[in-house]
Amino acid sequence: MQLVLPTGEYKDSFIEAVKEFQADPQASDRHKTYRELSIVELEADFDAYVGRERGYARGEHLPEGFIPWTDYWLVDGGKFIGRISVRHYLTDHLREIGGHIGYDIRPSKRGQGYGNKILELALPKVQDLGIQKILVTCDVTNAPSRKIIEKNGGMLENQVPNPETGIDKLRYWIDIFHPNT
Ligand SMILES: CC(C)(COP(=O)(O)OP(=O)(O)OC[C@H]1O[C@@H](n2cnc3c(N)ncnc32)[C@H](O)[C@@H]1OP(=O)(O)O)[C@@H](O)C(=O)NCCC(=O)NCCS
Repeated sequence: MQLVLPTGEYKDSFIEAVKEFQADPQASDRHKTYRELSIVELEADFDAYVGRERGYARGEHLPEGFIPWTDYWLVDGGKFIGRISVRHYLTDHLREIGGHIGYDIRPSKRGQGYGNKILELALPKVQDLGIQKILVTCDVTNAPSRKIIEKNGGMLENQVPNPETGIDKLRYWIDIFHPNT
C-alpha cells in the first residue's frame, strides 16, 4: 500500500472508482469532484486528466479562487483505492472551513482501515511541503472522518458554522513534530 502521484498506471481502477462515486448516494465535496468527471473523456485521454491533476501542484490552470494543491492516490494490490489532496497553504476560507487536507476512499473499499491509512501516509508528504501544523476539518456529522483525524493526532480547536452546507465543521490541528499536544 502506498501513496503515489496521479499516473496512467491505475487508469482502469481509477475509472471504476469514479463510477462508484457517481453512483454513491452520499453527497460530499469530495464526491462533487468525481461527479464532474466525464467517463467518456477519461477513457479517451486519461493522460490529459493526469497531466491536469499534476499541474495543479505547480499552480497551472487552477480553477478560479483555488490555490495550488497536490493530489496523492492511495493504491493497494495494483488498484486505486482513494485520494488525498494537500493544499499548499491556507486562505481565509481554508483556515475557517476547508483546512489543508481533503481525502476520500472509494465506496467499495470503505470500512477496511484505508481512511486511517491515507491520512497517516500523507503526513510525511505534508511535512515535505514545509507545513508543520496541519489543519484538518470535517463535518460534525462525519463520524468516520472524526475518528481518522483523532487517530492521527488531531487536536480539536473548535466547531464552527458552515453557512454553505448548514452543517458545522470541526477544526482539528495535527502538529507533526509534537503529536498529541
Ligand atoms: C470518511 C472516509 C474517508 C472514511 O474512509 P474509510 O476507509 O471507511 O475509513 P476507515 O475504514 O479507516 O474507518 C475509520 C474509522 O471510522 C469508523 N467508521 C467507519 N464507518 C463508520 C460509520 N459509518 N460510523 C461510525 N464510524 C465508522 C471505523 O471503525 C474506523 O474507526 P476505528 O479506527 O476506531 O476502527 C470515507 O467514508 C469517504 O471517502 N467518505 C466521503 C468523503 C469524506 O467524507 N471525506 C472526509 C472529509 S475530507
